[in-house]
Amino acid sequence: MSKTILVTGGLGYIGSHTVVELQENNYNVVVIDNLSNSVKDVADRITSITGKPVKLYIADVNDSASLEALFELEAIDGVIHFAAHKAVGESVQDPFKYYRNNIDGMITLQKIMYHYQVKTIVFSSSCTVYGDTKNSPIVETHPVTEAISPYGTTKLVCEQILKDLCKHSGFKGVILRYFNPVGAHSSARIGELPLGVPDNLVPYITQTAAGLREKLTVFGNDYNTPDGTNIRDYIHVVDLAKAHVKALDYAFEMHQNCEIFNLGTGKGHSVLEVIKAFEKVSGKNLPYVIGARRAGDVEQIWADATKAEKLLRWTCQYDLSAMMKDAWKWQLAFDDSQ
Ligand code: NAD
Ligand code: WQD
Repeated sequence: MSKTILVTGGLGYIGSHTVVELQENNYNVVVIDNLSNSVKDVADRITSITGKPVKLYIADVNDSASLEALFELEAIDGVIHFAAHKAVGESVQDPFKYYRNNIDGMITLQKIMYHYQVKTIVFSSSCTVYGDTKNSPIVETHPVTEAISPYGTTKLVCEQILKDLCKHSGFKGVILRYFNPVGAHSSARIGELPLGVPDNLVPYITQTAAGLREKLTVFGNDYNTPDGTNIRDYIHVVDLAKAHVKALDYAFEMHQNCEIFNLGTGKGHSVLEVIKAFEKVSGKNLPYVIGARRAGDVEQIWADATKAEKLLRWTCQYDLSAMMKDAWKWQLAFDDSQ
């Protein structure tokens, strides 16, 4: 019989793509989302891709009464926990918002899971836990002692909570450390929602090309990298979503344990390379200027993803041009639908 998976934050950017992959792999999916960074309509968009309805609870993972009601009604076998705030800069301005939502949410969810003896969980972590390191490609055993922002702290604390529960309380946890997710589903029906001025590079590029922003500012070209701009490991969101299905399968099969996996392509690209790749697939000249460094930016980081490749039997299918192509397609489709 198909297993039923609770996806917290399942209407968000990575969550929605993962719900598609889960449904396409015959998992039953139940979503809980408080719409703090998404809209209800995403559920219909998911259905338009998979042909399957999304069972949706609009509620907060910090609200234990709502979670309890959900666990009473649904026979949940496992959980993928995406629900969290994710803006690094905002977390510096308002750290308590991040501690409350991300850490309290994790604790509330784990407590209910424990109560209902649902102990299989995949948790969304981030490469931000590695901080400012020059040791790329980064392996999972790289030290993660000091976070570079309150957002990063929330990821480290949640990882630690999950490790404790795996060690002492019978949980089976998979921690996924994402590098830089970009792009959108090739149907252009789901993608990252453009709420406000984007902080991240790729949405800023696509909005500039669409004429919504005047120009892109490249944050510094005086780094110690081949072209002077920062290097990141950009990963197509669909590749990332597919890794969640593999991680879930893996978690169900393993014994009480906690495993950590990097999810990246294993290749680093500079900001200028991303711009060039975008210009090539879109046929547009992107207006950009070189500006000052952005505070807190890590010079260069990319993943060693061999552990995920070996144990999860997962590899990335999409390269940088496919990422740019789908990001642009989503930008154009989203503009049309407004
Ligand atoms: P997102 O904001 O698009 O999605 C998060 C979803 O969770 C949203 O739909 C939001 O409404 C919901 N949510 C937030 N708090 C909630 C709460 N208390 N109760 C119920 N729902 C809540 O973000 P995303 O990019 O899809 O990120 C998903 C996860 O991956 C987050 O944990 C994030 O920290 C992590 N992550 C993201 C990135 C990235 O670059 N996007 C990188 C590394 C890790
Ligand atoms: C990428 C590169 C910028 C915007 C963030 C979080 C990280 C993780 C992923 C959640 C950098 C440059 C950007 C612009 C630019 N998220 N840039 N002009 O900072 O690597 O990672 O998202 O866990 O925790 O910090 O991603 O897309 O913001 O930046 O030059 O207008 O693009 O300096 O080198 P980042 P990003």
